[in-house]
Amino acid sequence: MRKINYLFNTKSNFTLIKSYLFNSIRLKFVKKKRIEYIEKYKKFLLNKEITHDYFSRNAFDWINVLNEFKNIKFEFLEIGSFEGNSALFILENFNKVNLICVDQWKQLYRDDGKREGYENLSINEIEKNFDANLKNYTGRFFKKKISSNNFFKKNNKKFEVIYIDGSHFAPDVLDDCRNSWSILKKNGILILDDYFWIGYSKIEENPAFAINQFLKEISGKYKVENFTKFQLFLRKLN
Ligand SMILES: C[S@@+](CC[C@H](N)C(=O)[O-])C[C@H]1O[C@@H](n2cnc3c(N)ncnc32)[C@H](O)[C@@H]1O
Repeated sequence: MRKINYLFNTKSNFTLIKSYLFNSIRLKFVKKKRIEYIEKYKKFLLNKEITHDYFSRNAFDWINVLNEFKNIKFEFLEIGSFEGNSALFILENFNKVNLICVDQWKQLYRDDGKREGYENLSINEIEKNFDANLKNYTGRFFKKKISSNNFFKKNNKKFEVIYIDGSHFAPDVLDDCRNSWSILKKNGILILDDYFWIGYSKIEENPAFAINQFLKEISGKYKVENFTKFQLFLRKLN
């Protein structure tokens, strides 16, 4: 109920509310399968260097939404790689993917005015874990240690799938959404993390506000593929 209230408080559009409710009902039918799939993925992570698991809970949704890419060549862009958990999932499950991992791996301090939640972690250790976790996949992914804004300025590639899981600060999220949309191919999938993240005390500084603004801008040009407790999956129609 807290999440439904949040959808209303953030003035989420009707399509989102409908998709969220639809997914909550659908989940009841696949609950067992979902738990088993997530547990299997967690087992795979046991010998990896993962100190904070931000991804396993999404594994079942990803394998379903991204099913069409299972055996084809495609370009995947990830904004926010941290210890490489979501990247590992993609590399393990999609054998023809070409993956670009963008993360600035920069220590965030509270006096940046940002409260991203990992100010107290050593970002150097996090980056070392990323390198260790992905060492067996050399040649299948590219690591870009750069801010997302700077990546978008230099990039001239287009992508079938883009995952936004970088900064949670609404103005940054809006930039990431707009920049990603402009380089997402037609029929491509945009995955947005943290719709319900509420780390900033001013409600309008949280991701949902940026995402709702972005959805207004692309009205009529997207389809909601899924909307879970954690992530929104959009398809670009034209
Ligand atoms: C929640 S973590 C990503 C989790 C990761 N996808 C996983 O599966 O574990 C967010 C990451 O975004 C990075 N980040 C934050 N702001 C960024 C920005 N402006 N540009 C690039 N990376 C950024 C942080 O360094 C952090 O590693």
